Amino acid sequence: MIRNVVIGGGTGFIGSALSTLLRREGYGVTVVSRVPGPQRISWADLGKNGLPPETTAVVNLAGQNVLDPTRRWTKGFKQNVWASRVNSTSSLAEAIIEAKAKPKVFITISGVGIYKPCASKEYTEDYEGKPFDFLSNLCHDWEAAGNLPIDVGVRRVILRSGVVLGRNGGMVKQLWLPFYFGMGGPVGDGNQFLPWIHIDDITRLILFAIENESVKGVLNGVSPEIITNKQFTKALARAMWRPASIPVPVFLLNLAFSEERAKMMTEGQKVIPKRTQAYGFKYCYPDVQTACQSLVRNAK
Ligand SMILES: NC(=O)c1ccc[n+]([C@@H]2O[C@H](COP(=O)([O-])OP(=O)(O)OC[C@H]3O[C@@H](n4cnc5c(N)ncnc54)[C@H](OP(=O)(O)O)[C@@H]3O)[C@@H](O)[C@H]2O)c1
Repeated sequence: MIRNVVIGGGTGFIGSALSTLLRREGYGVTVVSRVPGPQRISWADLGKNGLPPETTAVVNLAGQNVLDPTRRWTKGFKQNVWASRVNSTSSLAEAIIEAKAKPKVFITISGVGIYKPCASKEYTEDYEGKPFDFLSNLCHDWEAAGNLPIDVGVRRVILRSGVVLGRNGGMVKQLWLPFYFGMGGPVGDGNQFLPWIHIDDITRLILFAIENESVKGVLNGVSPEIITNKQFTKALARAMWRPASIPVPVFLLNLAFSEERAKMMTEGQKVIPKRTQAYGFKYCYPDVQTACQSLVRNAK
């Protein structure tokens, strides 16, 4: 049976891990990218020629890195952050609507930033909140951009991902050197929640959503273990056999990233993967200590 998956942003941290997993499982992969390369098409090609023939699933993981420390949080950069997610998602949705032979499923990623940081509230996928800041507004627009008319007949899945823990990208890649040199520590008092998921689990969750026809709607892409920033810091430091007692002052992050963006590190939400678990998804790394140990093991 032919099984081809199109991945927008498939060159990135999550996308390249997903491509590797899918190829290992016998899938063909076509990446939609701004940069030419083998088994890649451009966004312009997608608009002109539509989806490659015999596409069985479409996944969007494209998006300008919000926490790029080299970029100032200007109006122009925020526009890039927004457009790279919303426009790529709507381009893929458009291609699905236009396709004569439809894929079975359209999966897009979004973030837990859709939930308002709060010390007491627990958020499951059932929560229907309104946008309250730039990032939550972005999540709403990003998710809506992938909505397909019912008569298109394509299953739709949205993964609201927590911080993805992996050696090759995201937060851990940025923290590795400071932690390695014993300069790691919690952000502020470290009491803010840190919704997280291991890279192997987010890619396996995408595969699970591709292969299980009953899976649809929003899934929280987070581990079932609720932790704080301080607990994560301890787990990573312990796995690396390093101390981690130098806190990162909140005012420094606000200065470096601007307060609106630094909130992704200085505040957090308690997110429960209720629907993800109800569908029977089994995590390889349900606890943060094992997850951090695997990152250190794989780094050698
Ligand atoms: N990593 C996390 O912890 C995490 C958590 C929650 C949600 N997410 C979301 O998941 C998605 C993938 O995350 P990631 O960590 O894999 O990101 P990443 O490594 O930064 O990769 C994202 C990909 O998006 C494409 N891209 C970047 N800027 C773009 C732009 N201006 N216009 C169009 N495409 C652009 C790039 O592909 P090309 O250069 O090939 O075009 C890049 O490889 C992102 O949307 C992110 O917001 C990530």
